[in-house]
Amino acid sequence: MNTDDENPPDTPAGGKCGAPLRSFGRRRGRKLSARKTSLLTGGLERLKLDLSQPAGEDGLAALFADPIEETWLEIGFGAGEHLIWQAGHYPHVGIAGAEPYVNGVVAALSGLEAQELQGRVRFHADDVHPLLDWLPPASLSRAFMLFPDPWPKKRHRARRLFAAPLLTAMARALRPGAEFRFASDIADYAEAAIEHALHHPAFELALTFTSANRDTLPDWPITRYETKAMREGRSSTFIVLKRRPGA
Ligand SMILES: C[S@@+](CC[C@H](N)C(=O)[O-])C[C@H]1O[C@@H](n2cnc3c(N)ncnc32)[C@H](O)[C@@H]1O
Repeated sequence: MNTDDENPPDTPAGGKCGAPLRSFGRRRGRKLSARKTSLLTGGLERLKLDLSQPAGEDGLAALFADPIEETWLEIGFGAGEHLIWQAGHYPHVGIAGAEPYVNGVVAALSGLEAQELQGRVRFHADDVHPLLDWLPPASLSRAFMLFPDPWPKKRHRARRLFAAPLLTAMARALRPGAEFRFASDIADYAEAAIEHALHHPAFELALTFTSANRDTLPDWPITRYETKAMREGRSSTFIVLKRRPGA
């Protein structure tokens, strides 16, 4: 998650079709304390999704310890503040989170424990692509990708996560009418995202707004990276895509 580091120390496997995950940030940050290491091993053991087993045919409810009515997904949840906010505010929802940054996963586990939300959250502590391929069709009711790694250099733009192949994988996993929320503080990333949304047959572009209209959707809390962008004087763009029926 440390976006100052473009040369990650490790390059784990896990990308689509076995391609390695290209991480803009690092997979690991500061060395974990003994308490955090035990939180990671114990907490993640309980909450991690086992992609070697097929997902339930009757939807994803069986994955969660608490009863839920719908499942949402957050891609690249960072330290989990947004995911925890959503789980806290929507008690009928179970949330699957994908995040390869180990220190972020530990922070999220700690936040979930503090708020006793572990029964409605499951993690894939790695690249989101295998998770998307594993999810049953039309199993998600909402998804979020907030401030994905920017990859600002022109020659690296093909590495950006929000692109046509990811939209196609999302289209399979989202039920008709489901929302997919995206945000970026990088102007040309936001512009490209709008273009992708307009051209993908499975989605309609339902809403776009910027930091100037930040309170447009009251259930869209500010994330850590949005705070950083504000501090550094960058406006952000917020986009809501809607899964079209049929396409
Ligand atoms: C710039 S951070 C934003 C974190 C958080 N969403 C926020 O707004 O504060 C982008 C996050 O995406 C994660 N990420 C990068 N590639 C990913 C992938 N292939 N699958 C899932 N998460 C990924 C990174 O580890 C990082 O934590």
